[in-house]
Amino acid sequence: MITTNTVTESPLLQCQKEQFFISDDITYLNGAYMSPSHKSVDAAGIQGVQRKRTPYELSVGDFFKPLEEVRVAFSELINNPEPNRVATIPSVSYGMAIVANNVQIGKGENIVLIGEQFPSNVYVWRELAAKNGADILTVSAPNTKENRGKIWNERLLETINSKTKLVAMSHVHWADGTWFDLEAVREKTRKVGALLVIDGTQSVGALPFDVQAIQPDALICAGYKWLMGPYSLGVAYFGEAFDNGKPIEESWFNRYKSEDFAGLVNYEDRYQVGAWRYQIGESSNFILIPMLLAALKVLNDWRPENIQTYCKEITKRPIATLREMGCWVENTDFRASHLFGVRLPEGVSIEALKQRFVEEKIYVSLRGDAVRVSPSVYNEEKDLWHLVEVLKEFV
Ligand SMILES: Cc1ncc(COP(=O)(O)O)c(C=O)c1O
Repeated sequence: MITTNTVTESPLLQCQKEQFFISDDITYLNGAYMSPSHKSVDAAGIQGVQRKRTPYELSVGDFFKPLEEVRVAFSELINNPEPNRVATIPSVSYGMAIVANNVQIGKGENIVLIGEQFPSNVYVWRELAAKNGADILTVSAPNTKENRGKIWNERLLETINSKTKLVAMSHVHWADGTWFDLEAVREKTRKVGALLVIDGTQSVGALPFDVQAIQPDALICAGYKWLMGPYSLGVAYFGEAFDNGKPIEESWFNRYKSEDFAGLVNYEDRYQVGAWRYQIGESSNFILIPMLLAALKVLNDWRPENIQTYCKEITKRPIATLREMGCWVENTDFRASHLFGVRLPEGVSIEALKQRFVEEKIYVSLRGDAVRVSPSVYNEEKDLWHLVEVLKEFV
């Protein structure tokens, strides 16, 4: 018999709930929507607000050093030996706009996307394709539950062809956690001479990502989900293809030697070296940058592989029970453990289910006939059992 109060701990990482502000009556399984703040991130934000009380204490270094530290900390997280390839961005759409601003594509060539991708990784490509007479090839999910992830991956590789100039996708699908084999995609894109652009928003931080193994041309991440940072600040990595690219805006900050405040009106035609050229105006946000830095330090301490193991451990028994109840969850080989979809048997009233989630203070996302579940290290196995108990009322 299943006990509903099993406390499972990863051999490497224990439950970190006490480091967050989630009260015991809340079952928060929605990190894919937004992470709760770690206490150190919260403290960094408060300190950041307070800095404005004494502007006379801010020095030139304060505009650059924390940003530099973020680049280093993010690089550590993704195994990037070159921190100057990293820039901060306000959103994924901004990061993708930088990429699109520096991609050459012509009539009859194509951009490959995954079906039902997040809009910030779709509209920009539609626009680029429309402007240049290029095509969008969308690889939709196969209409089967048998080997769904495997077939989806195969179709993706088959779709990339000699006319493909860019593949823009994610490591795991934002709606149901389907995992894509980026190393295989990289190999194929290299063969055909296409760029590989990854939206890492729903994976980086919780699922290991190794820049040296995958070698993407760009990796764009929102910061407020699995990077555990604040809203409105993300991080981007740019490969060599973008070394001499053009930024979207012409700010003083992304010009060569911008750190020389006394020389700002010695107008400079050159951009900063590396990804710094892509920094948005007023990048040195004294509240958000320290918050993201604090979050990255925590993640580098925990390590994504341990977070993934922890999530696998607390979800495996509840998922086995869900399957016995007739729900469908992708095989572990083709999905993440921190983000997965539970497809409900036919006939379940989603409205009634939603109401029960409200009553039970269970936070997940509902997408069509599927429940998106996204736990992290502030969860325990009992949170998943709470979800299972409510779903049992419906199947
Ligand atoms: C996969 C993915 N990318 C990007 C975003 C956010 O995009 P933006 O920063 O442009 O709002 C989300 C938000 O849910 C997401 O799930």
